[in-house]
Amino acid sequence: MAVLASWFWVLAGCFSVAVAEISNISGLYPPLWEDSPEQLSDYRLEDGKHIINPWVFTDRMGMYRILLKETATYFARYGPENEQNLLWGLPLQFGWQYQTGRLADPTGTTDCGNEPEESLCVSVDSWWADVNYYLSVLPFLAAVDSRITGLSPDQITILPPPKDQMKFCYNVSGCGSAFSETMDRWRDFFQYMKLPSSDFEGLLKKLWNAHTSSLEYPISVFVDRYDFYSEQEATFERDWAIAVYYLGAARLPTTLNRTHSFQRGLPPRVLVDTDIVPFIPDFTPLQNEVLEILKILGNSDRLSGSLTLTIWESLMSTKVARELFLKALEKFLGTSP
Ligand SMILES: *[C@@H]1O[C@H](CO)[C@@H](O)[C@H](O)[C@H]1NC(C)=O
Ligand SMILES: *[C@@H]1O[C@H](CO)[C@@H](O)[C@H](O)[C@H]1NC(C)=O
Ligand SMILES: *[C@@H]1O[C@H](CO)[C@@H](O)[C@H](O)[C@H]1NC(C)=O
Repeated sequence: MAVLASWFWVLAGCFSVAVAEISNISGLYPPLWEDSPEQLSDYRLEDGKHIINPWVFTDRMGMYRILLKETATYFARYGPENEQNLLWGLPLQFGWQYQTGRLADPTGTTDCGNEPEESLCVSVDSWWADVNYYLSVLPFLAAVDSRITGLSPDQITILPPPKDQMKFCYNVSGCGSAFSETMDRWRDFFQYMKLPSSDFEGLLKKLWNAHTSSLEYPISVFVDRYDFYSEQEATFERDWAIAVYYLGAARLPTTLNRTHSFQRGLPPRVLVDTDIVPFIPDFTPLQNEVLEILKILGNSDRLSGSLTLTIWESLMSTKVARELFLKALEKFLGTSP
């Protein structure tokens, strides 16, 4: 229980970082948002198809921008300026990965993401980029398939990475047969979103169902990538992958403002061998604390064979509990009445 209690406070701590200092909502958008495609026609056209290269930062971000734009209408009733759109969590995470150097080639054998002229390159050797592929291309294709975007699957070509092509999928039919459950869950989210009877709580549940499902394959397949990182960063990657399941069980509302403030607790650069948690001098106390708690959480999850997750899930299984949890967070934020 001590672990769960400390996990709770860390989450609360992340959220307590004031959001107030940015007064213009577009200041919260992910990096290069305005430079990313906003519609399919912004992508290069070749042989009657639009070419999307998910191994270029702005191309992958563009899929999110299209998603956010096309789903705005369904979230309008929950707040202005699309701020309440739950899909914001995805591009903000991807933006954080970019800003903190996590999409660059971790082996250092190529300039991908490491040199100014290659700054938009997303490396297939990056663990973060590989996992994010399943949280960008799959939801995008599921949305296309669910007729959310008004696009047809045969208008799009998704380019493969320079290696490990067999570990990725590139179109609605390919992803549908290789990752049928994950694609079903994303489709389920989008179909539900279109229902007049849908509500915020239901959207949140289906979003996290799809999100956690998307992680299963890449987390088990890209374990070889851990070798490219310092032990500290590899541990953080493993722990973060575990933590996401806990966040999902709490159904964290991944709206623009909340995700933005949450991310301030995350490490602002790739961890190196000399970093000693929780005493990394160029990290904030909060960022150090988050790493420490993630480590404890990861260890206890592994040692208990995910029993702590089961306990956490049952704690978070009622709406009342999740509301209490969020209320506590809001109290920290000073936004509750
Ligand atoms: C918000 O900031 C963006 C750039 O940071 C600017 O283009 C936009 O005009 C600003 N909007 C308002 C309402 O100030
Ligand atoms: C989100 O943050 C922006 C900028 O800080 C603020 O103007 C807006 O009111 C916030 N919206 C909500 C719903 O908290
Ligand atoms: C979809 O991608 C698969 C490879 O993942 C390929 O074999 C297939 O031909 C593609 N289908 C279409 C319609 O492009």
